Amino acid sequence: MRTHYCGILRATHINTTVTLFGWVDRRRDHGGVIFIDLRDRSGVVQIVSDPERTPSSYGQANGLRNEYVVKVVGRVSQRPGDSLNPRLPTGEVEIYAETIDLLNGVNKPLPFQVSTADAEPVREDLRLRYRYLDLRRQPMAQNLQIRHRVVRAIRRFLEDQEGFIEVETPVLTRSTPEGARDYLVPSRVNPAEWYALPQSPQLFKQLLMVGGIDRYYQIARCFRDEDLRADRQPEFTQLDMEMSFMSQDEVLALNEALVAHIFKTVQHIDIPRPFPRLTYAAALARYGTDKPDTRYGLELVEVSDLVKDCGFKVFAGAIAEGGMVKVLPIAAGNEQISNVRIKPGGDLFKIATDAGARGLAYIRVRQDGAVDTIGAIKDNLNPDQLQQLLHRCGAQPGHLLLFGAGPTATVNATLDRLRQAVARDMHLIPEQSLNLLWVTDFPMFEWNAEEQRLEALHHPFTAPRPEDLADLTTARAIAYDLVLNGYEIGGGSLRIYQPDIQQRVFDTIGLSPAAAQDKFGFLLEAFEYGTPPHGGIAYGLDRLVMLMTGASSIRDAIAFPKTQQARCLLTQAPADVDPQQLRELYVTSTYVPPDRES
Ligand code: AMO
Repeated sequence: MRTHYCGILRATHINTTVTLFGWVDRRRDHGGVIFIDLRDRSGVVQIVSDPERTPSSYGQANGLRNEYVVKVVGRVSQRPGDSLNPRLPTGEVEIYAETIDLLNGVNKPLPFQVSTADAEPVREDLRLRYRYLDLRRQPMAQNLQIRHRVVRAIRRFLEDQEGFIEVETPVLTRSTPEGARDYLVPSRVNPAEWYALPQSPQLFKQLLMVGGIDRYYQIARCFRDEDLRADRQPEFTQLDMEMSFMSQDEVLALNEALVAHIFKTVQHIDIPRPFPRLTYAAALARYGTDKPDTRYGLELVEVSDLVKDCGFKVFAGAIAEGGMVKVLPIAAGNEQISNVRIKPGGDLFKIATDAGARGLAYIRVRQDGAVDTIGAIKDNLNPDQLQQLLHRCGAQPGHLLLFGAGPTATVNATLDRLRQAVARDMHLIPEQSLNLLWVTDFPMFEWNAEEQRLEALHHPFTAPRPEDLADLTTARAIAYDLVLNGYEIGGGSLRIYQPDIQQRVFDTIGLSPAAAQDKFGFLLEAFEYGTPPHGGIAYGLDRLVMLMTGASSIRDAIAFPKTQQARCLLTQAPADVDPQQLRELYVTSTYVPPDRES
């Protein structure tokens, strides 16, 4: 029987006899004395075996190699003064091994050093291919522990303090309205019909409200076939919630208490409440994005009105075409950001053009107050316009002003990316800060230029603000996102529960009554039977854990993640299947490999 985990042994255990199980993290031979770092999920402790003091274990100790699995029985001793290790939590003690049983060896060369004692970077594809070895290493082991503690804190808070119940919803279901591509599953027993894996439990959680569940939550797996980024996975986990009879303020207050509880219990961090709020319009105006990182300033300043009549065509033209001109003012930017970087070929210029900008105009305010800029601005702004512009931007000697001019969305995207790059570059980000922010009042709809129609920004069950009902096309939604340090960690809304408003929303996005009936008929029907006002939210659990662990990729918050190409390198999924399986499903592939295309 195991008596202790390795990582918890301390001076208080001295003179007790312990039984430990674990892996050989490292084995060192110091002139006949063998030292073994024994590792289990809790950490590492030093085992000692020498031919004089512990002859009974010496033979086994001598034969051990890295990652062998062993059982060790021994006595906890104080380490001699010269071998105390203050960097190790167990660094005050060592175990003199009375017996060592080899439970299993390692039969193949290790693909990488599992021990993190001399932290050697390991390629991510190798880590993913041999994930079970990676999980033994301290960073992943710790991340999974934190993830577990987050989930435990969520369950304790929602169940014990707030009366939520967890309900599971189907994974084989119909398409759900989150806007990404679906993962489809063919039905063998219903030929030519398909299930969709849920992009979220959205429709079911609303049905649960109709069903009187009142307060629902679920740690729910969601599936979205979309382009992957560092903070996205094709299958990911939501903390999904829905509540009846609550106002937006009540929903937000409850969620602030939940988030504060998570950070307090898992990381002993106090988060001040209430969280700041910013409307979507203000977020875009000030930061160019609906998920601003508010740990630093660098706020944007619109100057369209000042330059709309100037002779510089890039500015005046952008405004005439319905776009805007905006500035990213950078205090002390002159010292830190050279012309090479903001002119063609420079890294900041490239960030701007990658975001869709046609160029990157700038103004520098020299230490003596003189202004240095590209000719086109100098020649086309009169001194008055220039002074007003500098004043509006709060420009002082040393300031660099970077301009975005063009369609509003492009200007915002460009300056948002530049703002983030400049903040990183100039070390303006207080890495330890946790800035939580509600973004509220999202528009109900956005224009889909490709399909030439409005589409729901959140999803078509989101309620419009009552004061905006007259014209839904410009209405704001009772929708909110929670942003942490520039990442969207959650989003939700109050829902429509009146059939007439629901119908108007479908009309606005061009969904005919017949099409709405076909897609969501079951939900619309349910709404006819006494639907409580309700609303909810879902958090990206993986994303939250990524931020809490300081990981740079969402993959480090997930035990068995997929690559950017949506592959599992460990199991090699997705993979071919037996043609017989496809026949049973009435499925044939039309895929032609590129090299065989005629
Ligand atoms: P939404 O689509 O905003 O809302 O998703 C909620 C949260 O889930 C996380 N998320 C993801 N995390 C990892 N990989 C992905 N591909 C991914 N996509 C989304 C984000 C996001 O904030 N049904 C609504 C919620 C509601 O209205 O109650 C929904 O799913 O952190």
